[in-house]
Amino acid sequence: MFKTECSNVKTTTELDKLRIKYLGRKGLIPYYIKKFQSLVLIERKYFCKKINVVKNKIYTLINIKKIFLEDLYTQKKKNTPYIDISLPGRRSDIGAIHPITGMLYYIESIFCQLGFQIIYNGFEVEDQYHNFDALNIPVFHPARNMQDTFWFNANDLLRTQTSNMQIHALEKKKLPIKIIMPGKVYRKDYDQTHSPMFHQIEGLIIDKDISFSNLKWIIKNFLSIFFEKKMTFRFRASYFPFTVLSAEVDIMNHSNSWLEVLGCGMVHPNILKQFDIDTTIYSGLAFGMGIERMIMLYYGVNDLRAFLKNDLKFLQQFKQGRYY
Ligand code: DAH
Repeated sequence: MFKTECSNVKTTTELDKLRIKYLGRKGLIPYYIKKFQSLVLIERKYFCKKINVVKNKIYTLINIKKIFLEDLYTQKKKNTPYIDISLPGRRSDIGAIHPITGMLYYIESIFCQLGFQIIYNGFEVEDQYHNFDALNIPVFHPARNMQDTFWFNANDLLRTQTSNMQIHALEKKKLPIKIIMPGKVYRKDYDQTHSPMFHQIEGLIIDKDISFSNLKWIIKNFLSIFFEKKMTFRFRASYFPFTVLSAEVDIMNHSNSWLEVLGCGMVHPNILKQFDIDTTIYSGLAFGMGIERMIMLYYGVNDLRAFLKNDLKFLQQFKQGRYY
């Protein structure tokens, strides 16, 4: 009887009631013990022994059941979701501008101070006319080599330089021009300092009385604003098919060696003539620089690939952007 009653018990309070029913002061077991007092000694001894065995069994079974019910309770508690409303809410991280984009913004802001207008949305898929021919880059020029350029077909390609935008700007036939043109460019190159996609900013001025001294003034001011100090720099004679008087600009680093930062020059008259611009009145200057190169110089990072790996630990170091 006790056994079935015990197995029907579902809660610890029910179990406690059962315990009182059998073992409590007014329970069944004490009731019988009391009753046996009126028996003769030999019978009393016999029944008391029996009832003690029953009493101990009931006692043990109740304890086992108690442990079982308590276990069940904690188990249930674990399985049901528990909402602790006192916990602080989950924080979501605020994203940040990628350091390469940040650097683009920074450089753009400097040229805006110098009176340039920014032309976005350059053509990344280009034809060979805008990327090469119109820029006075002859067919035999190594830049047209299959090794450097991603070609779609015999005519279309991924632009290898933002200089293509000079031609698009000239096609609009609106002078004077004073613009910068940032954007992505593509070349078959991949190592510590090159990636197949990278960024350039192209600058172009076409106006009356533009001379090499204008170019020098712009570059000098750009460099000192960019590095926030007076820079030692030099113009080193160079060659670009689309400029005559071509130069590369080098800056002096901490260990007194020259580092190349950009290419520039006076726009080649051949280019202006294509657009019926009178080269006796108008002349132009142009320059182009690689953003990744500038960011590496600025922060002293020597492996460009680090910027492209999406490693948050690395990228978060640039979070305190100083560009906006
Ligand atoms: N387009 C050149 C390059 O990708 C960079 C350059 C050099 C641009 C001289 C210019 C320039 O506008 O005048 O290497």
